[in-house]
Amino acid sequence: MTDTDNETDGEDAPGADSVALDPWGSSTVSDYRKLFEEFGIESFDDVIDEVPDPHYLMRRAIIFGHRDYRRVADAMRNDEPFAALSGFMPTGDPHIGHKMVFDEIIWHQQQGADAYALIADLEAHAARGLTWDEIDEHARDYLLSLLALGFDPEDGTLYRQSANRELQDLAFELGAEANFSEFEAIYGFDGETDVSHMQSVVTQMADILYPQLEESKPTVIPVGPDQDPHMRLARDLAERTRYFKVTEAYASVAFDDDERPLVAAAYDARGEYAEDEDQPRCTEAADWLREDADLAAAYDAEVVESVVQKLENAGMEPLRPRIRFFDRQATDEAFEALIDEVAGEKRVFEGHVDAFDIDRETAEDLALAVEVDHGGYGFVPPSSIYHRFMTGLTGGKMSSSIPASHISLLDDPEDGYDKVKAATTGGRETAEKQRELGGEPDQCPVYELYAYLLAADDDEFAERVYEECAGGERLCGGCKEEAAELMAEFLEDHQEKREEAKEVLADLDVELDSARA
Ligand code: TRP
Ligand code: SF4
Repeated sequence: MTDTDNETDGEDAPGADSVALDPWGSSTVSDYRKLFEEFGIESFDDVIDEVPDPHYLMRRAIIFGHRDYRRVADAMRNDEPFAALSGFMPTGDPHIGHKMVFDEIIWHQQQGADAYALIADLEAHAARGLTWDEIDEHARDYLLSLLALGFDPEDGTLYRQSANRELQDLAFELGAEANFSEFEAIYGFDGETDVSHMQSVVTQMADILYPQLEESKPTVIPVGPDQDPHMRLARDLAERTRYFKVTEAYASVAFDDDERPLVAAAYDARGEYAEDEDQPRCTEAADWLREDADLAAAYDAEVVESVVQKLENAGMEPLRPRIRFFDRQATDEAFEALIDEVAGEKRVFEGHVDAFDIDRETAEDLALAVEVDHGGYGFVPPSSIYHRFMTGLTGGKMSSSIPASHISLLDDPEDGYDKVKAATTGGRETAEKQRELGGEPDQCPVYELYAYLLAADDDEFAERVYEECAGGERLCGGCKEEAAELMAEFLEDHQEKREEAKEVLADLDVELDSARA
């Protein structure tokens, strides 16, 4: 999830500028843009227009990145099933960083998602060494805050990892698709890593795919970017369990992902070289590719060479676009059923079937339907959204081990008030300078409180604070007073709602006292 990992102490790594994403390490992200380049997280900006009525965390770019969220936005717009799930390690009190994730789950639930929240107690025990008693206490507090903030438990699902047998069965099955070398590469595990820690990883993989156990559906996992390694692995594992792989192909020979665009370009240019435009021959395409200097320059020379080779070997075979279904791990019956159901012209080979008259989307749908009909999971790759970490109130990281740096949802409203009043700001040394130069809201933890929490849905309010600060009309004393009062009000209200939620929680079917304690 979240920024529980903000809590690990320790100094910033030597090159604090470089991005390292470590789910159990210290996570500061100095440059969110690097996450796009280095890990392929996409900017949330690119999808926000497709989201009906986006949440304020999205509008303010606090949710800054995503993987594959378009799938979820599409489902939302078209009233199709989708799910949202996140998990919480019960290592301490829930704080305002967790509130963001609670809100994200709740918002998706209100937009029609099947919503899930889980207590990652196996992980807290294995990776953080908490006792079961500690875990029980914190688990309760997380759930109460989630309910107090508006999670609808009638309509959503809450569970603890340790008490969910189905989840553990799924974890076991997924474990068969992963091996130690991979864990080494992704998480830096080594010979000293204990096996329960590794088990907590496959458990998280199962969490992420759990909403799809009954029915395949787009699923969004709202988390902090420190959890991205888990997302990448979960997306991989989801794919590995699939019965069929659907690709585009142009001839009987297989081209890989690097080669395919080049073959597509050759196919598109057939008018330039083919004796018969309706039947561009592989050799003709090979000759054309070899001679086209522009193309050669635009692609990797080795890729060009291997494409040319393959095309030459294919000789007089015509280039012809098609959809190819690879049999990855389908049962024989499932493969037979797929072949039967492919409409139009098709050609059946040893481990694959080529279809000439259907488009990619139809093919993907068909592959999924046949898999599910024959007992497969049919997992759709899970999507994710990433939020920024909040800066600590004392500057630097927000850390549970520095109480003054964060506000717990259980803090006394007066303590909350005091912590805000004592916070560092992006203000100038003197009031005079502030009036002259304006403050620096982008460097100010108090401004963050407004944007992330206190202004809630009121964009106009958040913008006004920003403009007034930057314009020198707002001074830090008054600004902090206003924020501190709002914080105290929020805490008071939240804690009242927590009291009310106690009854609700008692009636729910969630295990609160671990049998292990
Ligand atoms: N690993 C997460 C954390 O450190 C908790 C977690 C467990 C989780 N399972 C999850 C988060 C599934 C998102 C989805 O806080
Ligand atoms: Fe921060 Fe408010 Fe001071 Fe601006 S005026 S720097 S937002 S505390």
